[in-house]
Amino acid sequence: KNTENQMLVIFGASGDLTARKLVPALFNLYLDKQLPENFIVLGASRTNMTDAEFRNKVVLESSYLQEKFKDLKEDHKATFANRFFYEDLGGDYDTDYYTLKKRIEALNDAEGTEGNIMYYLSTPPTLYETIAKNLAAAGLNTQNNGWKRMIVEKPFGYDLETAKKLNKGLQNYFKESQIYRIDHYLGKETVQNLLVTRFANSIFEPLWNRNYINHVEITNAESVGVEKRGGYYDSSGALRDMFQNHLLQIVSLIVMEPPIGDHPEEIRNEKVKALKSLRIMKDDKTIHDHTIRAQYMGSNIDGKSIKGYREEDGVAKDSLTETYAAIKFFVDNWRWKDVPFYVRTAKRMPTKVTEVVIHFKSPHHQIFQDSGMQSKDNKLIIRIQPDEGILVKFGVKVPGQGFKVERANLDFYYSSLAETHVMEAYERLLLDAMQGDATLYARADEVEAAWEFVNPILDYWKNGTDVRMYGYASGVWGPVNADELIDGIGMWRNPGP
Ligand code: BG6
Repeated sequence: KNTENQMLVIFGASGDLTARKLVPALFNLYLDKQLPENFIVLGASRTNMTDAEFRNKVVLESSYLQEKFKDLKEDHKATFANRFFYEDLGGDYDTDYYTLKKRIEALNDAEGTEGNIMYYLSTPPTLYETIAKNLAAAGLNTQNNGWKRMIVEKPFGYDLETAKKLNKGLQNYFKESQIYRIDHYLGKETVQNLLVTRFANSIFEPLWNRNYINHVEITNAESVGVEKRGGYYDSSGALRDMFQNHLLQIVSLIVMEPPIGDHPEEIRNEKVKALKSLRIMKDDKTIHDHTIRAQYMGSNIDGKSIKGYREEDGVAKDSLTETYAAIKFFVDNWRWKDVPFYVRTAKRMPTKVTEVVIHFKSPHHQIFQDSGMQSKDNKLIIRIQPDEGILVKFGVKVPGQGFKVERANLDFYYSSLAETHVMEAYERLLLDAMQGDATLYARADEVEAAWEFVNPILDYWKNGTDVRMYGYASGVWGPVNADELIDGIGMWRNPGP
């Protein structure tokens, strides 16, 4: 695909995301020769900095770059840094963007970026609409001389109402086709591979339905706690922070019908349909019975004492924000009717892992003797991270007399494709947006459909009666009560490191 000459304008460029994620991703693209001939970055934020200071901060003296590219030649870094510029917006984002416009025009002329501009909003979401409005007022949204696109970071709304308001607010100034809502999970190779596994093979899709699948399990575990983001996290929680976006995106790829082609809108149309078919939990009793929330508590791991969630900086002492969420739900459509989905996400788990497990039904007539396997049913395990790969579990005969069955694995690991460089999420997503490919970005209706599903749970957790909040020691697989959720159907698969 063609990457046209362009300028990336980052709002909130003095923040952590720019140095931590965006610049390393751009640097990789640069080393891979994926950036167009004329490409520059213009940082914009409220901090007073010169071009040189900005270059030092995010490139030349950045510890993130240093760490990632250990044996990098200094002159490489220096040439790359020359592509960076900075514009101080003054004290406020809600201001006249006249000076910014003049700077953009001057840089565009000098650097040959042909009027193509990608705005990256890496500010608090409360500023998104304001920025869009001021860009429009300065005529910086018009596409008559080069395209204009806008990438927005999550959180995309705080609930259904605010998400709708935000979508509307942005769409007042930019067309939906100009807006790219980033969900970094969609940038993960293995998440995209869900589509390929399903739709480029003939051996899985015929089984991919209620006739053969018993249940679907998704686990997203992190070993870290809230790190330095206690303040943000306490007003968010696992449901908003991970489930509404990343996990429901994964769900939509598992649930969706085959698209008629690989055009971004064809794929996104099917994802929206999938999200709209999730059965919304309307009454308190269902939510009460089908959801579990919990918080991590202090504990001692390998002689190191770990703080409980409520002791973290920025977290209220009596906080009721969940760091663990497990949800059971159904999908009301022809393919999935009555197949339960179990999805959990949490911090302070024993390890960091994300995986999808498709549990197939048992053969309907058992003829061989059970060898005492924990579970003899077939499973397809899609390991999203780490050790990205795919695993099929199936029964084989134990050598010797009789027909004892043992479980064996067929596995594929991405690491075995040694010569391929697996692009990191931000790298892949940035390049896609730079090329105008929105396949891996969330559309407004997708985001809203995901909130439709999540909203009643948030409401109940906030205002319901008899809402439970469990605790779990840091470093274990969540509260024991979560077993009740999946009881009767099996047990959670707790993957090893
Ligand atoms: C972010 C969340 O979106 O995803 C974080 O805000 C979380 O709380 C992170 O730690 C996890 O991403 P990854 O790629 O490490 O699984």
